[in-house]
Amino acid sequence: MMDMFNWQNASQQAAVLVEKKLADLLGERDQDFSLLFEGMRYSALAGGKRIRPFLTLSIAQLFGGDEEPALSFAAAVEMVHTYSLIHDDLPCMDDDDYRRGRLTNHKVYGEAEAVLAGDALLTMAFEVIANAPADADCRIRAVHALSSAAGARGMVGGQMMDMKAERETPSLATLRRLHDCKTGALIRASAALGCIAAGVQDEDILASCHTYANGIGRAFQIVDDILDVYGDSRLLGKNTGQDAKDGKTTYLSYMTKQEAMQEAVTLTEQAKDALRPYRGSEMLLSFADALLNREK
Ligand code: IPE
Ligand code: IPE
Ligand code: MG
Ligand code: MG
Ligand code: MG
Repeated sequence: MMDMFNWQNASQQAAVLVEKKLADLLGERDQDFSLLFEGMRYSALAGGKRIRPFLTLSIAQLFGGDEEPALSFAAAVEMVHTYSLIHDDLPCMDDDDYRRGRLTNHKVYGEAEAVLAGDALLTMAFEVIANAPADADCRIRAVHALSSAAGARGMVGGQMMDMKAERETPSLATLRRLHDCKTGALIRASAALGCIAAGVQDEDILASCHTYANGIGRAFQIVDDILDVYGDSRLLGKNTGQDAKDGKTTYLSYMTKQEAMQEAVTLTEQAKDALRPYRGSEMLLSFADALLNREK
């Protein structure tokens, strides 16, 4: 079980657990598949903050869930997230050369190989959920939560809006919706998966977790937009100035850094309010603050 003492310890432990799980899942002896698996491991085991698996594991723990099913769900959401990054960085999308402190997947393995490594991570995520040590109802709920968040009305839908936003300027309301889809959906799914792993059925708890994840997800992408302009690329592990290079409309197209930060603060406070009533939630409250003040 993770140490609930503070979020730094707990998120460190969650990262170790999920990395071990990913390394197990992505080990492959069959020579014919070795290049594909090498590309999958290259991006999945490249570090990364592991905030989504941490959310799944810590929310499962908060509501009394066992670690094993939660860990399978946590690995699955990190696989989907990693696939989204590999594809996001492709020349036909954001065309980025660095990610997680190293060259992007397509820079090392080639574009076709990067597309396939992403496809394989996405698909394997659902294989992992199907095989999770949980009852069938729980696994079906998890498949539904992750597939709906990742797909056309979630992350992929948001990425499509993001591409369109390079050609025409979205309103601020549309930009917020775009953020809720491209980034918020997987963060909300991470929290929902924690609830599902813990067998939570209570509508109030599910709604509180949704509100928490929604708030931190919104704040997270605002901070991502700010860091793209003002951040340190060495800390971030990816190049800065990429949004301007791609002609993207971001939060900073509409407001100053201070105003954007103020909105992120308000969203973080709303997120924390939703979980504060639950005993043991302190760690997730400090985690929300840490995401707000992050430099990477
Ligand atoms: C980057 O996500 C993509 C966005 C949704 C902004 P993270 O900042 O969580 O990336 P990693 O997993 O730490 O590399
Ligand atoms: C990424 O948004 C969202 C997804 C990968 C789904 P960004 O394009 O802003 O993320 P970074 O800045 O490249 O990490
Ligand atoms: Mg992008
Ligand atoms: Mg990008
Ligand atoms: Mg960005």
